[in-house]
Amino acid sequence: MGPRVRTLRSLLLLLQALAGPAAQNSDFYLAGDYLLGGLFTLHANMKGPAHLDVLQVPKCEEFDLKVLGYNLMQAMRFAVEEINNQSSLLPGVLLGYEMVDICYLSNNVQPVLYFLAQDDYFLPILEDYSHYVPRVVAVIGPDNSEATMTVANFLSLFLLPQISYSAISDQLRNKLRYPATLRTVPSASHHIEAMVQLMLHFGWNWIVVLVSNDDYGRDNSQRLGDRLARRNICIAFQEALPMPEPDRTLTPAQQARLGDILLKLRQSTARVVVVFSPELVLHAFFEEVLRWNLTGTVWIASESWAIDPVLHNLTELRRTGTFLGITIQRVPMLGFSEFRVRRSQDGPPPPSGTSPRATCNQQCDACLNTTESFSAILTSSGERVVYSVYSAVYAVAHALHSLLHCTQTSCVKEVVYPWRLLEKIWKVNFTLLGNRIFFDQQGDMPMRLDIVEWQWDVRRNPFRSIASYDPAQGQLRDIRNISWHTHNNTVPTSMCSKDCELGQRKKAVGIHPCCFECIDCSPGTFRNQTSDEFVCQPCPSTMWSRRKDTSCFQRRLAFLEWQEAPTIFVALLAALGFSSTLAILVIFWQHLPTPMVRSAGGPMSFLMLVPLLLAFAMVPVYVGPPTVFTCLFRQAFFTLCFTVCISCIAVRSFQIVCIFKMASRLPRAYGFWVRYHGPYVFVVVMTAIKAAIVVGNMLATTTSPTVRSDPDDPNVMIASCHPNYRNGLLFNTSMDLLLSVVGFSFAYLGKELPTNYNEARFITLSMTFSFTSSVSLCTFMSVHDGVLVTIMDVLVTVLNFLAISLGYFGPKCYMILFYPERNTPAYFSSMIQGYTMRRD
Ligand SMILES: *[C@@H]1O[C@H](CO)[C@@H](O)[C@H](O)[C@H]1NC(C)=O
Ligand SMILES: *[C@@H]1O[C@H](CO)[C@@H](O)[C@H](O)[C@H]1NC(C)=O
Ligand SMILES: *[C@@H]1O[C@H](CO)[C@@H](O)[C@H](O)[C@H]1NC(C)=O
Ligand SMILES: *[C@@H]1O[C@H](CO)[C@@H](O)[C@H](O)[C@H]1NC(C)=O
Ligand SMILES: *[C@@H]1O[C@H](CO)[C@@H](O)[C@H](O)[C@H]1NC(C)=O
Ligand SMILES: *[C@@H]1O[C@H](CO)[C@@H](O)[C@H](O)[C@H]1NC(C)=O
Ligand SMILES: *[C@@H]1O[C@H](CO)[C@@H](O)[C@H](O)[C@H]1NC(C)=O
Ligand SMILES: *[C@@H]1O[C@H](CO)[C@@H](O)[C@H](O)[C@H]1NC(C)=O
Repeated sequence: MGPRVRTLRSLLLLLQALAGPAAQNSDFYLAGDYLLGGLFTLHANMKGPAHLDVLQVPKCEEFDLKVLGYNLMQAMRFAVEEINNQSSLLPGVLLGYEMVDICYLSNNVQPVLYFLAQDDYFLPILEDYSHYVPRVVAVIGPDNSEATMTVANFLSLFLLPQISYSAISDQLRNKLRYPATLRTVPSASHHIEAMVQLMLHFGWNWIVVLVSNDDYGRDNSQRLGDRLARRNICIAFQEALPMPEPDRTLTPAQQARLGDILLKLRQSTARVVVVFSPELVLHAFFEEVLRWNLTGTVWIASESWAIDPVLHNLTELRRTGTFLGITIQRVPMLGFSEFRVRRSQDGPPPPSGTSPRATCNQQCDACLNTTESFSAILTSSGERVVYSVYSAVYAVAHALHSLLHCTQTSCVKEVVYPWRLLEKIWKVNFTLLGNRIFFDQQGDMPMRLDIVEWQWDVRRNPFRSIASYDPAQGQLRDIRNISWHTHNNTVPTSMCSKDCELGQRKKAVGIHPCCFECIDCSPGTFRNQTSDEFVCQPCPSTMWSRRKDTSCFQRRLAFLEWQEAPTIFVALLAALGFSSTLAILVIFWQHLPTPMVRSAGGPMSFLMLVPLLLAFAMVPVYVGPPTVFTCLFRQAFFTLCFTVCISCIAVRSFQIVCIFKMASRLPRAYGFWVRYHGPYVFVVVMTAIKAAIVVGNMLATTTSPTVRSDPDDPNVMIASCHPNYRNGLLFNTSMDLLLSVVGFSFAYLGKELPTNYNEARFITLSMTFSFTSSVSLCTFMSVHDGVLVTIMDVLVTVLNFLAISLGYFGPKCYMILFYPERNTPAYFSSMIQGYTMRRD
């Protein structure tokens, strides 16, 4: 005796203990060649499994009536009757049924044992059940997942086909565990996906989840939580609703608990509430919601209460906001509305105990009358879950039709073993009222889901479809307008934080990714649609952005421009320098033979004047954006000109002061000096050295212009020649300085010479000026950046040349022009004589 057999024996004992004939109602039983078992919830009581304490089948009639359950049961009766009326399906075969009220969860085991037993109530203990024929060939139901799994655990042992019409739990997809269980509804994941799609469509990302404190609530809310996390929708909070007592009253503790939940709900910014719960829990809850005057909420109903007529009859609910529900698609079933409330012609049911084959919980005296009172709403809401029951019955019928080798007119009425019927059911594929009926790999039927909106206007469909969801596509379709009961019918928002604008980034607040602050992007960074919401991207180096910008702009290039005042000033100075130098040149040219010009250096003064002239003419290279060419000029040309001038001055001072001493003391050196044009050689050598320095400097760095950001104004990029220019400048200046010192020393030595030979003052002046200006320029460059440096640079250059031009040549021209009597060899001779006499 295996464990399986032992299990069955104990079940058998239970069956014997439980079974007892009860009242028979023709609604629950129809004799036929083959019986279908039907499990429905006509009564329900959420409060606990108290019945498990005693070995006794609970009396469902003592519980609350569930209108929708009776409606579904009627659908099964309708389907069977229709099949029996038809001649094409199962011709000559009479389909019967045996239905039991399972009172939601309380009464599952007894009916399933009853179905498994044979006519004599006994479930024999066999080694092999492959040739066992139980009372029913298939079971339709039950409605909820928990009960379905309980029943499925029994039926799977016998491979007795079971088709549930509204159990959505994903656990039922496990075909190793539940090989005989099929469904005519899509599984929970599709229901939840439809909900998530709905939230995504309306941009809700901050929701509240309320669940019943049972497997249904826990499983589905967990599944929803998993899915939401992947879609960036956050759960503000989740609460379990307290289960009410059988008579729908709440204990004070439960009342307080509900109060806490509603207070939380009212204080939350989340306006979308998903409720996963059997509808029985919700009567007390929604009455409390009404008492709390909650408004503006969007309630999303799970399939368990999405089309519940009793809750809908709480018409005051319209005040609390919008109700949306997920449910099975609507399929019109002609004639069902009349059938639902049709009274049997058989008159009153026979008195209890007379029938030999009845079981308990097969009665519901109030069902029909209550259903009648809801007839209007049930009719106008149309056939939804009802169709699932209807198609389940048809699936069995079609399988049976195939198993019995039926032709157009007759069937072979052979013994039907459940496992053989199960094989056929898996293979059914037919069209019923416009829908293809077949089961997928997991035994589910991929029916479309509808999102319904609750309406309370009479004459209108209380559950109007506003969108549909096709499990195959996984997307909402046919989305219609919804009346939101808000101002101007705007879609309610349910977000923890409003989306950030472009140009702002999110800063997380707390643990939820949906809650954040918006922070403006700082200057130099930006954010637009293409980038991560939590970071501002930095701009490329040549670009910049303002605070809260969505893109970067090119930085303005700063360089010296013609229209600026400093440029004009420098240009005027350069023009002055150029014209005065030109004038000096002309004057010197005209008075070339005079002693004044010869004392100024004679032809050598032209060696100074021409570079001066060129330098003044080249000043415009400082204006405009720097190029390689202008940088070359700025860094090389001017300094070379300057060196030429300074070396000329130095060599001239040397000649005046030392030439006589050299002639007398070093006659051979003097000979060389004169023969090889010593002064010119000196100038050329100096210039060559300077040129070597400049070239070396350029090779060490580069002359190409560079662009740097201005530390004071990030909007601006400074275009300048190489930043290491400063070092080059210092290097150049040191050489010029040396020459200046030499020139100055000679001039100082000759300070007692006649005034018309003595330029010590002028040389000192211009050398000191040039030296201090170069040093101050370097200092300025080291502390400052930008266009101002260029201005200073050009100013210093121009002033240096002006100093030479006007400081050195100016006084001489003045003498030439205004004291021509002093510009005679006689005057010069007298001066020299006077000087010689004074020295003696
Ligand atoms: C079955 O046929 C009977 C008799 O013709 C009819 O009264 C009944 O409405 C039919 N039932 C269905 C469900 O079509
Ligand atoms: C709801 O509104 C009614 C009347 O407007 C008021 O008497 C009652 O106190 C309110 N209830 C709550 C919980 O605010
Ligand atoms: C149902 O209603 C009928 C009349 O419509 C009435 O005669 C009958 O007693 C009612 N049955 C129950 C159980 O209330
Ligand atoms: C709906 O509710 C109203 C008042 O709450 C009640 O009078 C009516 O009988 C209910 N309707 C049904 C069909 O039960
Ligand atoms: C059902 O039958 C139709 C046509 O007879 C066929 O196109 C479809 O693929 C079948 N579906 C399945 C799941 O076998
Ligand atoms: C929805 O409402 C808008 C404006 O109220 C209207 O333009 C549009 O046609 C409506 N759409 C549907 C499908 O009713
Ligand atoms: C409603 O619409 C009107 C005009 O269409 C507008 O002036 C008003 O601001 C809107 N009210 C709200 C709350 O959106
Ligand atoms: C977003 O930034 C990128 C990168 O700077 C830019 O190419 C794109 O044009 C920007 N888009 C908008 C809409 O500003």
